[in-house]
Amino acid sequence: MRGQATKGMAVLNDRIEAKWIDAFETTFRACGVTETQTAIILSETQSRDLNVHLSELALGRIGASFFHLKVPTPRNTSPAIIRSSGATLALNGQEKAVAALSGVDFVADLTLEGLMHAPQTGAILKGGARILNISNEHPDMLERAMPDEDLKARTLAAARLCRKSSEMTVTSDAGTDLRVNMAGNNTVGVWGWTDKPGTLAHWPGGIVVSFPAAGSVNGRLVFQPGDMNLTFKKYFDSEVIFTLENDYVTSIEGKGTDARLMRNYLDAFGDREAFATSHVGWGLHRGARYEALTMYDKRDSNATELRAVAGNFLYSTGANEFAGRFTEGHFDLPMMGCTITVDDTCVVENGVLTS
Ligand SMILES: [Fe+2]
Repeated sequence: MRGQATKGMAVLNDRIEAKWIDAFETTFRACGVTETQTAIILSETQSRDLNVHLSELALGRIGASFFHLKVPTPRNTSPAIIRSSGATLALNGQEKAVAALSGVDFVADLTLEGLMHAPQTGAILKGGARILNISNEHPDMLERAMPDEDLKARTLAAARLCRKSSEMTVTSDAGTDLRVNMAGNNTVGVWGWTDKPGTLAHWPGGIVVSFPAAGSVNGRLVFQPGDMNLTFKKYFDSEVIFTLENDYVTSIEGKGTDARLMRNYLDAFGDREAFATSHVGWGLHRGARYEALTMYDKRDSNATELRAVAGNFLYSTGANEFAGRFTEGHFDLPMMGCTITVDDTCVVENGVLTS
């Protein structure tokens, strides 16, 4: 017995590989980064050093003018453990850093939670920067989940469909039956890069997410073993039933560990908004692997790939700024085996993309 060495399944070394510099370079070039542009690598003290380093080498190869901006990982002031919020707190009180970020062409965002929903993101984008959030994954995962033009086209089409729609319904053989009034929704399609000034993307991508207006989500979600809780980074192993009334989860039923964990976690925030709907949508990345969570240590994965698995229904609780709700709690809960219909278009049938 060799003690600690046999623990876990750490099969990946945290070292630079040429193929990962290639992957970062390809993605940065897709974002329109050239040798005439300026860039900042934004990180915090708890960021994954390997990805910070790969970003530096990729920008160096491109010949862009860049520098590092590293801020301290902030104190956790929430009563709960914050994971997967998509809203880094690392720029709070860092006006000088925000000013610098607003002044460059490109920001490689390596904060732990990401700039997706951070309060400072609007100001940074206003300056014309493109922000690429690099999800806190081991680069082995990033390398496999590269985006391509086909994914971009399908993601854009899905986003267009959702934006002009009036209703989304989601059903499953297990008993899921959800109705979302899509009037006034705010939809984002993310395919994994952005070359448009003043916009943000994250890598991996391949999802369409709609933030419904207030009071739009009603029905029942029946989670089955094999569905995913990406805040906990685990597959469900027991059934959990959510009842949703006017956006809010009003009951969480289930006898297993999953229901208990979810009730406990949401209660910990002491905040009713933690129980509200954040976004609804689906995964479009045919290269994203459903079983990926079984292949990585938790520390090697932020599970963004699982959000993009083709044909999942991605339901999330937490903040929805478009419905005037703010909270630090956030569950991303991709469900398999659902049928999703947007107005008259069936986009996912029994967990499979229809186009
Ligand atoms: Fe989310």
